[in-house]
Amino acid sequence: MSDVADLLVLGAGIAGCSAALRAADLGASVVLVAKDELGGTNTAWAQGGIIGLAPPEIGDSPDLFASDIEAAGAGLCRHEAVRMLAEEGPGLCRSFLWERLGVPFDLGPNGTPDPTAEAAHSARRIYHAKDATGLAIQTALSEAVRKHPNIRVRERLCLVDLITSPHHCLSPERVYEPIRVHGAFLFDPATGEVEAALAKRTLLATGGLGYLYLHTTNPPSATGDGLAAAYRASARIVNCEYVQFHPTALYVPGKPRTLLTEALRGEGAWLVNRRGERFMEQYAPEQLELAPRDVVSRAIFQEMAQSGEPNVYLDLAPVAAHLDLDSHFPTVMAACRAEGLDPSRQPIPVVPAAHYFCGGVLVDLEGRTSLPGLFAAGEVACTGLHGANRLASTSLLEGLLWGFRGAEAAVRELPEAAPPEAAELAPWRMPESPEPTDPLLIDQDWGLIRSTLWNYAGIVRTGARLQRAKADLHYLNHRIERFYHEAGLSRELLELRSGIICARLILNAALQNPESRGCHYRVD
Ligand code: SIN
Repeated sequence: MSDVADLLVLGAGIAGCSAALRAADLGASVVLVAKDELGGTNTAWAQGGIIGLAPPEIGDSPDLFASDIEAAGAGLCRHEAVRMLAEEGPGLCRSFLWERLGVPFDLGPNGTPDPTAEAAHSARRIYHAKDATGLAIQTALSEAVRKHPNIRVRERLCLVDLITSPHHCLSPERVYEPIRVHGAFLFDPATGEVEAALAKRTLLATGGLGYLYLHTTNPPSATGDGLAAAYRASARIVNCEYVQFHPTALYVPGKPRTLLTEALRGEGAWLVNRRGERFMEQYAPEQLELAPRDVVSRAIFQEMAQSGEPNVYLDLAPVAAHLDLDSHFPTVMAACRAEGLDPSRQPIPVVPAAHYFCGGVLVDLEGRTSLPGLFAAGEVACTGLHGANRLASTSLLEGLLWGFRGAEAAVRELPEAAPPEAAELAPWRMPESPEPTDPLLIDQDWGLIRSTLWNYAGIVRTGARLQRAKADLHYLNHRIERFYHEAGLSRELLELRSGIICARLILNAALQNPESRGCHYRVD
């Protein structure tokens, strides 16, 4: 493989691995970069599933699926993206994930995937592997990328910046050229070195930013690194006010939140208050617990505000009446039991938690961003599919489809690619006598970002709270930026820098948009 890859893929969840495999199958040389070891992604944390559609004889169709996505998206979906996903996505899920990679979806009596139900879906169309669908998919993808002769996997590397011309190039005449992406600077925490990974095309698949919120279902690595890098490189970024909160994360004081999959409500679980009373009738009389996530999360928020309680409860008794909880929901049961809770005997304490970023780096139907040379797929990208609120179980499918489409478009562009020579690049400069990184300061800054976003840019927002948050984080941003330039690089510092940039993107977007829609809800 030459030093300049055909395609550099940043991020190794479903979007990144799918893009890498598709490009490699088309003959491209691919470098796939993972921030942790391969497999340690947010994709692996997804419990509920991916859409394969229900058989038409029980009334499902791409049209019905598309109308569910549009209804959840609260009038802000990009129609062509919805159409494309509804028509092409389920087939790709079956042919690529199930038939080619052999993802072990739960099968029905006829030996084909046995779909389940989830909130706001009009049909039982969600393929799943018990309640650990993301892990099953990630495991199959990781194995396939490791085996592919055209893919070089690089693990435990952090994205520092996208390499762009003209500003990372030495040649002064490049100043007249449009901005173009040629790869990325990567930091290796094991050596402390930064390397320039040059590529003819680059695809961002770095995932989301749930860790910016105090309560989240995402892993601590979800710090918005790709979004922040794209912003610094001046890519067009949209819809940052739409951060989705999952209605049901396990609530145990002092512990990180654990997702309790949507499929539980899909199979009949009820939301109840401390007195055991169902309350969704007051908020969504027809759909009840199966209303879109923004509606259910706000209802829970309202119940908690009225009662002064820190949580509500999810009652799994209606599920246990027709399904064996241990065999269908082993992940959920293990998480509850680890906290001394027995869902077959007692309702489980739950709260909403930040779950998914519906905005991102704007891409077209082929994953092209506004910057030549740069593609994006998965949660870091905004295809417009989700509008103002994402329908459950569409994120893995979006990552898969746009990973494929982005890879295909990138490979088509290869003949016209002319990346700079390594010698043309300005060398990476570390500070001469770097300040040591103090972990306590980094923790403190994260604490401030996470509680500020949770309290002031959470499920219910006001202009005054958003202004206050903006002012507080403006000063923090100044300090972090200064520190970034003076300290030695570390993964922690790079993530913190991404975090503060993304936090400000969310706050600015939320402040500029006075209209409540989907998961951006302003009470003023
Ligand atoms: C869940 O299992 O509830 C998460 C699935 C999703 O976010 O689409």
